[in-house]
Amino acid sequence: MKNGKMRAVGVVPQKRAVRIVSQPAPEISSPTQVKIRTIEVGICGTDREICNFEYGTPPAGSEFLVLGHEALGEVVQVGSSASQFKVGDLVVPSVRRPCPHHSCLPCQSERQDFCFTGDFTERGIKMTHGFMTEYFVDEEKHLNFVPPELRDVGVLVEPLTVAEKGMNQVWQVQQRLPWESGADPEKGRGYGKTAVVLGAGPVGILGAMTLLVNGFTTFVYSRSPAPNPKSELVEAIGAKYVSSQTTPLKKFAAQVGNVDLVYEAVGVGQISFEVTKLLGLNGIFVFTGIPPEKPAIPIEADCLMRDLVLKNQILIGTVNADRPAFEGAIRDLGIFKKRWPEALRALITGRYPLESFQDLLLEKGPGIKSVITLE
Ligand code: BGC
Ligand code: ZN
Repeated sequence: MKNGKMRAVGVVPQKRAVRIVSQPAPEISSPTQVKIRTIEVGICGTDREICNFEYGTPPAGSEFLVLGHEALGEVVQVGSSASQFKVGDLVVPSVRRPCPHHSCLPCQSERQDFCFTGDFTERGIKMTHGFMTEYFVDEEKHLNFVPPELRDVGVLVEPLTVAEKGMNQVWQVQQRLPWESGADPEKGRGYGKTAVVLGAGPVGILGAMTLLVNGFTTFVYSRSPAPNPKSELVEAIGAKYVSSQTTPLKKFAAQVGNVDLVYEAVGVGQISFEVTKLLGLNGIFVFTGIPPEKPAIPIEADCLMRDLVLKNQILIGTVNADRPAFEGAIRDLGIFKKRWPEALRALITGRYPLESFQDLLLEKGPGIKSVITLE
């Protein structure tokens, strides 16, 4: 901070540029707001797409958008009626903010993850500045308390909410049939079932961890031949890593048997629709990726349709996280840290200063999860 101005990473779509911008430090302007000092900000595929100018919109009237939606921060000031937090607390903000329309039932009920109008905003993504800067201010209702023992991994809360929201959706959808294992709560709701995670990036690995703590037998299907750092991490947590380069889909299908759940975390239509063929009876396929537009590809539509009908299958898309998903992520991160302390830490492969943004935001960043540290 210099003369009340802070550094931020800004995307300027009209100039097709990504650069350090200078912004006035934000101040609390209502009694329910909280001011936060940014500790760390994670970088994900969405950020890289925004930097390719395929996604993302600056706030109205601004030339640039401040990037960053995966943040961990420390409370430095609380508004006069922001009673939930105190100075020094660690917090993770949610991403989406409700649309202004009174007719939008989801947004009116704090379920902007299901906004009806499309006029929601998202911090660091759509029409609201993000957290890749030194301080930010937010309404306390958009903040989630993180216990101090999770400080070193708290930046993983937001990417973990993808899996948490996905799993919440799965349990709700599958309630339409007797699916969940009720036998032994100790073993998890997914005990006796098989899940396949597609992709071994941070969303995939965090998804695999979530599935494992829910009791699923978990496979991760990803391109790179093993061993590699991702396959080693996957095997260390007790999932099975299978490379699509050395094990083609047919062979993999014979290996896994009946697949109850596929968790897509690869963001590519071609391989995802191929893998729908693995889905077994009463299976559910969860899409989380947001691919950029590409030319049409052939898919075996009749096979897919036949399976959807004859096998009672569901394909479902999920985006953005509600408060229960954030709370679930914070709880599960604590469980992961106890169960796999080294693997969880190994997921964050690099911590860099703000000024390193260029290399980190290229199409394929280094390592598994890169994090910008502002301390
Ligand atoms: C974020 C979500 C957001 C989505 C679409 C993801 O990277 O985690 O919160 O809704 O992008 O913009
Ligand atoms: Zn993200």
